[in-house]
Amino acid sequence: MTEIIDIREEHSWAVARGCQVLTEAEPVAMPTETVYGLAADATNPAAIARIYEIKGRPQFNPLIAHMSDFAMAERYARFDPVSRILAKMFWPGPLTLILPLAENSEIHPLCTAGLDTVGVRVPKGFAGELIEAFGRPLAAPSANTSGRVSPTSAEHVAADLGEKIRLILDGGASDVGVESTIIKVEGDVIRLLRPGGLAVEDIENRIGHAVLRQDTAGAAIEAPGMLASHYAPAAAVRLNAQVVLPGEIFVNFGSQPVADTDNAIALFDLSSTGSLREAAANLFAIMKMADQLPARGIAFAPIPRHGLGEAINDRLARAAAPRPEVSDAT
Ligand code: TXA
Ligand code: MG
Repeated sequence: MTEIIDIREEHSWAVARGCQVLTEAEPVAMPTETVYGLAADATNPAAIARIYEIKGRPQFNPLIAHMSDFAMAERYARFDPVSRILAKMFWPGPLTLILPLAENSEIHPLCTAGLDTVGVRVPKGFAGELIEAFGRPLAAPSANTSGRVSPTSAEHVAADLGEKIRLILDGGASDVGVESTIIKVEGDVIRLLRPGGLAVEDIENRIGHAVLRQDTAGAAIEAPGMLASHYAPAAAVRLNAQVVLPGEIFVNFGSQPVADTDNAIALFDLSSTGSLREAAANLFAIMKMADQLPARGIAFAPIPRHGLGEAINDRLARAAAPRPEVSDAT
């Protein structure tokens, strides 16, 4: 039986039990402000191997090492001056920095997929406390079967991974709802490897320096996990739709006018008031809900590309991309 502990009701027990299970080299599903993570000791190969096993994830895909604070991060990774400034500005928060491993870093090569760099992030809230109590960094991809939509609630995790995991720490719905923004600083260049929960404009405005967006081909080499089709619901996805085709689910944004709504088997709105923040928080839950209906496809209205709209459009483009063979589509 999978044990579920509500961190809002049993906070200290959740931390203590989480540490116990992590010490036994078993992954724990934990809430972060972005999405739920499947966390394991980033210094223990047996524990990390369990993550890959549970997710059915290709081994060449490196994992983010989550730290309790900047001081812990500095023990495992080397900070150039710009990365240091970004860390101080935006941690804890939805920003992952790709950094060279520190000398004698104990992050295991299974976590970095053998690279000499490591993705580092300091999550906000409960996850940070769990890591501090555990005393070592936690490798944590999103807590879903590889290729599926990331979970933004404990219920999503239970429905997807269920009996494969020992412990789910339930912190309610994720605040941000899309994964962290991934940045790599190379000399004078600040490169965006994955748009995410921290808007690129927020970074640019705070540091007064442009962030270089990468083309998709470059991103595929740099962040091997960024397979074209990644955040995939089972139903076919159609983007920038303004009319509903027969049998479709229609997902609107900001109450835009839509033609032929009679054709829809269901209508959703990511944010009827047109808030990109709210839309990001609702995105994966609505995809999952839509996926459970017998639809011929899911159509999404156009969504602005600024702010968190960049991450939302990125995830939707991946959801709509041609699918590789799905190993387990049930
Ligand atoms: O918000 C998030 O980032 C969530 C929560 C749980 O923290 N985690 C998450 O992890 O989205 P995951 O494993 O689904 O995505 C991590 C991404 C992958 O695309 C991977 O290729 C990239 O980070 N990555 C990790 N380490 C890297 C490295 N050293 N160099 C380049 N890319 C790296
Ligand atoms: Mg993921």
